[in-house]
Amino acid sequence: MPMNIALLGYGTVARGVHRILEERVPDIHVARVFCLPQEVDSELKTSDFQELLDTPGLSALVEAMGGIEFPRQCILAALERGISVVTSNKAVVAAHFAELAAAAEKSGASLMIEATVGGGIPWIHNLERVARIDEVSSFSGILNGTTNFIISQMRRNGAEFGAVLAEAQRLGYAEADPSADIDGIDVWNKTIITASLAFGVDATHEIPAWGIRSVTKGDLEALDAKALTVKLMARGVREAGRYAACVTPVILRNSTMEANVPDNYNIASLTGETIGTLKFYGQGAGGDPTGNAVVQDLIELSQGYRPQYHLGSDVVWEPRLLTSDWLVRSSAPLRASDREVVPGYKAIRAVDPVEAHAIYQRLLADDPDTFMAAVPQDLI
Ligand code: HSE
Repeated sequence: MPMNIALLGYGTVARGVHRILEERVPDIHVARVFCLPQEVDSELKTSDFQELLDTPGLSALVEAMGGIEFPRQCILAALERGISVVTSNKAVVAAHFAELAAAAEKSGASLMIEATVGGGIPWIHNLERVARIDEVSSFSGILNGTTNFIISQMRRNGAEFGAVLAEAQRLGYAEADPSADIDGIDVWNKTIITASLAFGVDATHEIPAWGIRSVTKGDLEALDAKALTVKLMARGVREAGRYAACVTPVILRNSTMEANVPDNYNIASLTGETIGTLKFYGQGAGGDPTGNAVVQDLIELSQGYRPQYHLGSDVVWEPRLLTSDWLVRSSAPLRASDREVVPGYKAIRAVDPVEAHAIYQRLLADDPDTFMAAVPQDLI
């Protein structure tokens, strides 16, 4: 069915959406673009959000601005008027998922969020499909293209962290403020959304997270010498009415699929009762893949699809479900019981991710270059 939409923002993702629609989906027409005057030179643009909402025949809004409070107000205003919203903005969904879902539920409009997690990977929709039938007992994944690109290039080409980050920005993978990528905040947002859908909870703010800012070529070489590597990973688990989730660097065997995910690619896995383990692999960042995910949502919307979000289960937070060992390189003092396992690296044994995060923060205060990664299996 033909549909008129408006774009909010005109950065990498919105441009990808616009290009894909114009070239491949003639039934979905961009009627207005809300953006800064310098972002697009077109008669479609406006900087008056109310005027945009009044566009005759407007049936959906694509929100790809980034930020939290202003997009929240825009999304709520659109939903309240019965205008459906497709967003790629994980920060606003992670911070206000329950509120936005309730507004959509109340108005009968749809809130579509495929592009918030995993770029072009059809992760959200498949998670919803699995959760219709199965209890999801765990998920994990590499959910940030920028940091995967950085580690991948450092391993393959021996490149320096800063140079590869600049390249990731040039390629349109990194967030406007790349600290959101390298400090794990981007994955934290994606993990909140994933845990909320996987476990039926409002997971906002409970999930400890840190990133790979301090990983060095030396770390990657030391791990490689033991046929290991490190990736920034989201993990979540549910067991007997309890759940835990975290975002941390994770030590992996080089032989695993996750260890071999290249460049801006992501991999996302889940385990359900009857479906077993599913893995989804594809480009996790960039205007075309993420724009593609937005366009898929728009097409489903035009066909009448309406997701239902159930975030009110009584599953309770229990970080001990993700207790593991941790590998640490730091010049800050550790406990005498924390033994050196690889020259220059110590192991902290059997700590849950909330406690591990607190330890990491203490070590960082003394040594800002501290590196600390989970070792979920018996690898060191
Ligand atoms: N900065 C994000 C990433 C973009 O690198 O994965 C896609 O969410």
